[in-house]
Amino acid sequence: MTANEIIRSKRNGNTLTIEELSFIIDGYVKGTIPDYQMSAFLMATYFRGMSIEERATFTKLMLHSGDVIDLSNIAGVKVDKHSTGGVGDKISLPLAPIVAACGVPVPMISGRGLGHTGGTLDKLESIPGFNTSLSIDEYKKVIAEIGLVMIGQTKEIAPADKKMYALRDVTATVECVPLIAGSIMSKKLAEGIDALVLDVKTGRGAFMQTYEKSVELAEALVGIGNSFGKETIGFITDMNQPLGYAIGNWCEIVESVECLKGKDVADVMELTYVLGGAMVMLGKKAGSLREGIELCKEVVKNGKAYEKFLALTKRQGGDVSYLEHPEKYPRSKYFVEVKASHNGFLTSIDSLELGFTGISLGAGRTKVDDIIDPKAGILLSKKVGDTVKSGEVLAAFFTDKKEVLEQAEQRVAAAFAIGTEKPQSAKLVISVVDKNGVRDFSV
Ligand code: URA
Repeated sequence: MTANEIIRSKRNGNTLTIEELSFIIDGYVKGTIPDYQMSAFLMATYFRGMSIEERATFTKLMLHSGDVIDLSNIAGVKVDKHSTGGVGDKISLPLAPIVAACGVPVPMISGRGLGHTGGTLDKLESIPGFNTSLSIDEYKKVIAEIGLVMIGQTKEIAPADKKMYALRDVTATVECVPLIAGSIMSKKLAEGIDALVLDVKTGRGAFMQTYEKSVELAEALVGIGNSFGKETIGFITDMNQPLGYAIGNWCEIVESVECLKGKDVADVMELTYVLGGAMVMLGKKAGSLREGIELCKEVVKNGKAYEKFLALTKRQGGDVSYLEHPEKYPRSKYFVEVKASHNGFLTSIDSLELGFTGISLGAGRTKVDDIIDPKAGILLSKKVGDTVKSGEVLAAFFTDKKEVLEQAEQRVAAAFAIGTEKPQSAKLVISVVDKNGVRDFSV
């Protein structure tokens, strides 16, 4: 068997055997298959795809390229959530402590910002002292003590994905359903979970911009999860406008803490409760989604979810005084308000454009080794459907970078569309995908 033969076979549209896939993946991790052959394999897969069985085999091989964490000594059904990525998508921050406060253990391994989307790890690390690089032993200790742990991918977890992902990022092979599915699921299955809830974004600010592509990805992810014996439910959710009002790292922590303390940021809390309700149901603490949602609401109301987030932050080395007194946090040098040029209704907010503008302000990376400015970000004052008056503030942005101010102001202004008619309100949670297939979502 040679890499050349396997690449040719995939290029010609054949289904690869476990031996062939293993030859490629193991060889790449060991260094016997060079980047140029792996790049050709990834591009052949991008165009030819993979069969359902091939996807499961591919994921299994990626998963077993590293350790699979054993959390069987932790009581309860361990459940995690994964989002395919969005703008202002801070949902993991209120969600994980809410679900843990309902008594469902949440072992969460998250990623950094990717492309125009933000990452939970970068947000957590904006809390002074918060350590997301725990060893596997520490990870197990924290989940045992707090019922919740939030870290980043370690070198032991799915090393094949780590290496392949970096290559995909620079070879235009990210947007490929079997490759995304293998990448996400190999990491999630390595965490030690029993069940998984997926938030598959669709729309302008998502990697999958069409509904059909998002369904295809959700079906692939759910199919793989269930084939590994982990009950998996996916939700297709709207990412045409940013979630909540904050886009950035520290400002998203502040908004999440406000939500945990009971502020009703409508879209953030609607999505948090649906995903949380599903996690609590899969964690066997509720008999239905509706009951799970009620339990989630209760732990926000009685303060237990906020207490859980404080306990987690303290346990992972974070300084909780910043959560309790966010006004202590350093401010950016520049603060610019963007105002409406005429009266009307806000008809759309371009989340993709705001995601990229956030990066230019310092809230994300353009190269892997860029240092993030946790203070930088954008705060919206209006959401789609709101009335706006000429001269009213639509959004404000903050940064230490003087050189980007002028362009950022133009980009933020251009991201808001004002029309004369109130737009129809879009559904936030559109569909649900589980082992029975895809259907419209309703509680
Ligand atoms: N997130 C991942 O972890 N992998 C992908 O391929 C895309 C999004």
